Amino acid sequence: MKYNTILSDFSNGITTITINRPTKLNALNSATIFELHSAFKAADLDFETKVIVLTGSGEKAFVAGADISEFAHFEEEEGRSLAKQGQELLFDMIENFSTPVIAAVNGYALGGGLELALSAHFRVASSNALMGLPEVSLGLIPGYGGTQRLAQLVGKGRALELIMTANMIDAPKALAYGLVNYVVPQEELLPKCYTLADQIKSNSSLAIAAAIRAVNANYMDGVNGYDVEISEFGKCFDTEDFIEGTTAFLEKRKSNFPGK
Ligand code: COA
Repeated sequence: MKYNTILSDFSNGITTITINRPTKLNALNSATIFELHSAFKAADLDFETKVIVLTGSGEKAFVAGADISEFAHFEEEEGRSLAKQGQELLFDMIENFSTPVIAAVNGYALGGGLELALSAHFRVASSNALMGLPEVSLGLIPGYGGTQRLAQLVGKGRALELIMTANMIDAPKALAYGLVNYVVPQEELLPKCYTLADQIKSNSSLAIAAAIRAVNANYMDGVNGYDVEISEFGKCFDTEDFIEGTTAFLEKRKSNFPGK
């Protein structure tokens, strides 16, 4: 499929989705959000894609936020639907994606850009990355899940400090906060993500999808995560992946999961 604002490349079981508006520091406009939705949907239907790496084009930015020029004239109802549509189309979709999504944060991840990275399953940053939720400096608050996901990841006090000050934090601080899992030099960012992706894709994709559902259950209102874990654990026993994994272990060979 041909996109105008993103790139999607498949190689060796990994789909790399790149936000590609470098002259606008990859700011998320509505076309980009729709195209990202389509690219994720396509990857979801592609049985060969075992891991998705999400990054930004160029060396300066992952995503410098939602495109301010698109909403500068909005009023309340338009603002509400901007946030609702974005959350449903993209951010919630990524968080609940059954294929693992790694955000490769290669520079500024601000506002909607940090929210996009937060919706991925985990994050790796380049050493030049700068992260923040500067919305209050524009008279706004984060609208793509940032008030929820940042607090879940780094704790309420740190999240509120970042949101209230509108300050950016650098990659070492993001690492200390647990916001990113690794910090590497920029040229090693994608190789690091691909090494992690290779480790992930050697495991059962069905079990990984079940683990994502069980972990996410903890953050859902009215859902008991332990009950979801019990149910997902049980379902694994009826899969071919379980038979292959346990058989391969007992036969002292590497497993070759069918993903069924
Ligand atoms: N929305 C729309 N356009 C954006 C953007 C955004 N969130 N972030 C950057 N851009 C555009 C700039 O307008 C500029 O476009 P132009 O060349 O047509 O004027 C281009 O990207 C380059 O940005 P510039 O500001 O010149 O780069 P810089 O290196 O001086 O500063 C930032 C980088 C990230 C500090 C600065 O661009 C910035 O503060 N961006 C907005 C961050 C933000 O508030 N995000 C949250 C939005 S809710």
